[in-house]
Amino acid sequence: MTRQLMVAGNWKMNLDRNAGRALCAGLASQCRAAHPGVQVVVCPPFPYLGVAGEALAGSAVELGAQNSSNEVSGAFTGEVSAGMLADVGCQWVILGHSERRTIFGETDELISRKVDKALAAGLGVLLCVGELLAERQSNQTEAVLDRQMAGSLAGIDASRLNKVVIAYEPVWAIGTGLTASTEQAQSAHKHLREWLAARYNRTVADATRILYGGSVKPQNARALMEQPDVDGALVGGACLKLDDFLPIVEAARGLRGA
Ligand code: PGA
Repeated sequence: MTRQLMVAGNWKMNLDRNAGRALCAGLASQCRAAHPGVQVVVCPPFPYLGVAGEALAGSAVELGAQNSSNEVSGAFTGEVSAGMLADVGCQWVILGHSERRTIFGETDELISRKVDKALAAGLGVLLCVGELLAERQSNQTEAVLDRQMAGSLAGIDASRLNKVVIAYEPVWAIGTGLTASTEQAQSAHKHLREWLAARYNRTVADATRILYGGSVKPQNARALMEQPDVDGALVGGACLKLDDFLPIVEAARGLRGA
């Protein structure tokens, strides 16, 4: 089974309207036609989804958001529903990012409800999991991943997994310049795939893409994505400049018979 690689950019709370538009226009010009080996996604902040979508129109680059509500509609001041995201042209949403978990206190239980609503709205979900440094140092990595996967995917049956992409993001590697070694990444990804096989079945495990995230840069992207269970990258800092993001897309284009 050949899994299509994905390179997704998470802008976080960065860039402004003009810079975001220029970045998307540049990306669109380099990704006009769909590439069989690589799917490219950008995830701007909510206010720029419209302008980003316009700049990406006619290209193969897909649009995602960075969060969505666990509710469908109603009196939830400040929240944005998955249906609204789909309505403004999003195909994807990042859920369970470590910054949502650690800074905003999101629990696996809340995340599972967000996953349910996002899938119901027709969005693809980029579900993030990953251990803290202290958890890795105390050999808790696999236990933490198991707990996050079980909790975040609670109630999500196998038939819905085709719209879920997992992102393994060791928290100690996010925004720190520290990258997991290729061995650390492959080992965690393999573990996650075996978890999917045990929880669902081998077909789901073989078909589900597992991206690596955490200080991915042009210099390390290829070696990470060459690992058999690493199916692409979720990129933070290096997605903010075309000159950093494009080489990561290019690195993916050269892999997996792409
Ligand atoms: P980073 O962020 O590439 O800046 O480490 C990755 C992420 O948080 O998705």
